[in-house]
Amino acid sequence: MTAVTPNFMIDAWNEVYAKFADKGRTDWEKLNLCDLGRFIDICGLNLHNVYRVLDIGCGRAVRLLLAVLGNPDLNRRGVEIVGIDVSAKAVDFATRIVANLQQDANYPEEFLDDFSRYLAAEGRPFLNCNMKFKKADILEYSTRNAGCAYELVIDWMCYHEVYLGGIDRYPEIVASLCSKVFILNVFSAEGNPPEPLPMAVRHVPKHVLSELDIRERFSRYFDLVHHQQFERNETPTLRHDDGAIAAKRAYLLVRK
Ligand SMILES: C[S@@+](CC[C@H](N)C(=O)[O-])C[C@H]1O[C@@H](n2cnc3c(N)ncnc32)[C@H](O)[C@@H]1O
Repeated sequence: MTAVTPNFMIDAWNEVYAKFADKGRTDWEKLNLCDLGRFIDICGLNLHNVYRVLDIGCGRAVRLLLAVLGNPDLNRRGVEIVGIDVSAKAVDFATRIVANLQQDANYPEEFLDDFSRYLAAEGRPFLNCNMKFKKADILEYSTRNAGCAYELVIDWMCYHEVYLGGIDRYPEIVASLCSKVFILNVFSAEGNPPEPLPMAVRHVPKHVLSELDIRERFSRYFDLVHHQQFERNETPTLRHDDGAIAAKRAYLLVRK
């Protein structure tokens, strides 16, 4: 039987999202929420041939939404963006923001500052692309008949906390879903001290990966063509044990 994410881990993710349901940000939402959008810009990708996008572990999707709103090549008619997450709470939040945006451009108060630049865009339809979210475990995806359905696959901080029992199958799963480009952001061995990083979410250990690890795990399917190092960030919170502080590295991987 193939290992999938156990319920106690899913419950732990839901607990965090429940805690911040009405107010406040999770640790990873305290980081710069424009980092994904900027990384996509820096990579200089030709997105005109991208029609289907998958975001694995999208969380509440604020980061994904900001990346899409800021990029006319992604925020265009005909583009279908799917965000998946094991947390039903995160998916519900994401679904609600997108519904609000489509109706009357109401932004969640907690993220008003991040969205404020789009409020000024008078007369411009906010979301031209089609965006939807579903509760799903990436480890439950079958590699059979997946058909490389997505030209762009994003994983911004999910793989490094994925259930250990499924971590080795993950590259093959992503490869079966992705036809062109894979963007991956993970805890970086180059930027962190060698000690293990403490858990920020109950039951969810952090996997710290080096560039060599990424090459070894993904090179059968992808060429690694670019990376951006994010240094340790002491500013977002005062606690010294959470995920916001740990250094990460984003990778651009292109399907072989
Ligand atoms: C650190 S958060 C990052 C969320 C989001 N990408 C962001 O940048 O704000 C990691 C997310 O991955 C989700 N996750 C963990 N394991 C998963 C799996 N096997 N399949 C889908 N989502 C998963 C968690 O529920 C959580 O929302």
